Amino acid sequence: MEGVVVLLCVLPLVLSQQQRIFSWEAPGETPAPDVINPCLADQDSCSCCVMLKKKWELERYLNTSLNSLEGSLARAQTTLRNIRENRVAFSTGLADKRRCVGPVKAAVNVTYQSIFINIGEAYNSTTGVFTVPRSGVYNLALTAFSDAGSPGVSLAICVSIRQNGVALAALREKYDQDQEDQATVVLLAELRVGDRITVSLQPGCWLCDDQNHYNTFSGFLLYATE
Ligand SMILES: *[C@@H]1O[C@H](CO)[C@@H](O)[C@H](O)[C@H]1NC(C)=O
Ligand SMILES: *[C@@H]1O[C@H](CO)[C@@H](O)[C@H](O)[C@H]1NC(C)=O
Ligand SMILES: *[C@@H]1O[C@H](CO)[C@@H](O)[C@H](O)[C@H]1NC(C)=O
Repeated sequence: MEGVVVLLCVLPLVLSQQQRIFSWEAPGETPAPDVINPCLADQDSCSCCVMLKKKWELERYLNTSLNSLEGSLARAQTTLRNIRENRVAFSTGLADKRRCVGPVKAAVNVTYQSIFINIGEAYNSTTGVFTVPRSGVYNLALTAFSDAGSPGVSLAICVSIRQNGVALAALREKYDQDQEDQATVVLLAELRVGDRITVSLQPGCWLCDDQNHYNTFSGFLLYATE
């Protein structure tokens, strides 16, 4: 539809341009003395020929414009499709009501059950695993919070963001002075399609949360690499 509107708009312009630039000779060419103005000799065939030439020039101009518009449209559609396919973003909280995970004897994968956004559906709240859908550079962020329960009781927050089980970054708050503590890590990582990103809670540690979402785990694709 847009193409048609553009063509209708350029039509008068083209016609007026054709009027101006059309001549029997190529630019810069001096006419031979005996063909200085053939139109003077045969008016009828001359105007017919002029019209045919104009029609042909116009058709060529419109063809070129249309081809170039079609090319631009195809490129725009490809770019849009790439942008849509590249949209990967998840952001989660531990729970929507009071919930503690741990203390644990052996490391566990934390399942963040409150989903704020999950564009691309790559985060699974049942397993707590973000499965990388597209290779690229990702921004990952983890905020951990816990509550010892009462003053003087030792607090133990220790979690790590893991790529296929290997720690990328960790948070650790282990001491007796604070009843509550919170820590955040933000990092960029180059991830491969199929990589499994998890938050691992370490032995002896625990996280607590409620509807305020003190614990969050988020990530998004900054740019794709293939
Ligand atoms: C314009 O395109 C049509 C269809 O592709 C073709 O038949 C015609 O010859 C072209 N005209 C010019 C002047 O290039
Ligand atoms: C956590 O998830 C990762 C990736 O799926 C897996 O390799 C690992 O075994 C899991 N850890 C536990 C304790 O289930
Ligand atoms: C999440 O993982 C579980 C266990 O592997 C699976 O049964 C479930 O279908 C997955 N959910 C989604 C939305 O992929």
